[in-house]
Order: sequence, then C-alpha cells, then structure tokens
Amino acid sequence: STIHPFSEQLVSWYEKNARDLPWRQTNDPYLIWLSEVILQQTRVAQGLPYFEKFKENFPTVFDLAAAPENVLLRHWQGLGYYSRARNLQKTAKIVVEQFKGFFPKSYQELIKLPGIGPYSAAAISSFAFGEPHAVVDGNVFRILARYFGIEVDIADSKNRKIFEKLANDLLIKSQAAKFNQSIMEFGSLQCSPSPNCDGCPIKIGCFAFLNGKVNSLPVKTNK
Ligand code: ADE
Repeated sequence: STIHPFSEQLVSWYEKNARDLPWRQTNDPYLIWLSEVILQQTRVAQGLPYFEKFKENFPTVFDLAAAPENVLLRHWQGLGYYSRARNLQKTAKIVVEQFKGFFPKSYQELIKLPGIGPYSAAAISSFAFGEPHAVVDGNVFRILARYFGIEVDIADSKNRKIFEKLANDLLIKSQAAKFNQSIMEFGSLQCSPSPNCDGCPIKIGCFAFLNGKVNSLPVKTNK
C-alpha cells in the first residue's frame, strides 16, 4: 500500500511542530482514555490541568472505579457535560469488573463501553495499542473537506462514512498513532476553523486554498 503525499507531509509537519502534551508520553490506555474523554468538547489548554489532577487523584482505573461519585463530580467541576463524568466511572467499573483492569485493545470491543464512540475507540486503539483505525472528529472533517474538496454537509450523520473511508485510506497503518496525533494537531494548530494558510506547508495541494473556499469548507448546515 502506498503512502499518500498528504499523509507523508502531515506527519513530517507534526514531527517539527507537535506540542509536548502529557498524554503523548504514555501508552497507558487508561491515561489515553482519560485524556480523550476530558478533551471531548474541551480545548487542550482548558483540559490540561484537569488531566493532571485526575492522573494525580486517580492514577489507575481501579482508583477511578472506586471513587465516590460526589468526589469524582467535584473534580469534574468546570468541564461541564456531567454525563461524560458518569460514563467515565461506568466504563472504569466495567474495565475493573469484566476485564480485570485491562482495557480491551480492539476498536470493536472499546466502542461497546459507555461514553466511548467511534472517535474515542479509534483514538484509544491506535494511541495505546497501535491498531490501524483512523480518528474522525471535527478536526478531521475540516481538514479533509478543505484539502480534498469534499463539499457534503457534515451535519448529516450519513456523510460521516465518506470521511471515515478517506481517513482510513490515508492512514499510515504502520504508524497509526503518529498519523492520528498528526491530524489532530494539524487541525488544532494549522488548519483551525480560522486558519493561517500563509504558513501552511500543504496549501499547494489544498482544494480549498486553491479555489478560495477555505472559509466555506467544511459545509455545515444548522439542521
Ligand atoms: N484533542 C483531543 N484529542 C487530542 C489529542 N490527542 N491531541 C491534541 N488535541 C486533542
């Protein structure tokens, strides 16, 4: 299987520009899961101190499973979306009680756990276990829609599979973790909702840049 120039350029951009984020220093699926749940609907700068506090107070999945709910929710204060915190503990208990504290490795098993959807299952299976599943979240919709000129409505959930197929075709399977971190970081630092295309190393191949559509892609209706 050949590597698309987009993927190669993305990873080499990442190697020069990646932030030093704490969840990138570990293969521990518990810490990776924790970071990804915190970062859902939360910016990295806001999520960072929560991640550090949770790691300190609940260093293992056993600690999280055993925590009184009010203690857990107190630590979650300020992050909002409290269902995320409740699902966090539901999943911790399942991992302890059904899997002896070991997270399942596969996407298919992970996605069955409370609060773990397609994005988180791909993130955990690739970051912790190197499994070849491409992450697809808002960053990925935005980057792929712009670069490849995909003009379908991302608010229509039926279109998700278009992006999943493309992301998985682009994924460097032998470097799944690095590819996925690269696309997340690129969406955060370079191809953000209001991007700075001047400094973009891949603009010469970008459909949106070449066609003056950076600000109209991705297409998102408010239905
Ligand atoms: N947001 C969610 N997951 C992330 C990750 N792994 N790196 C950077 N930003 C993220």
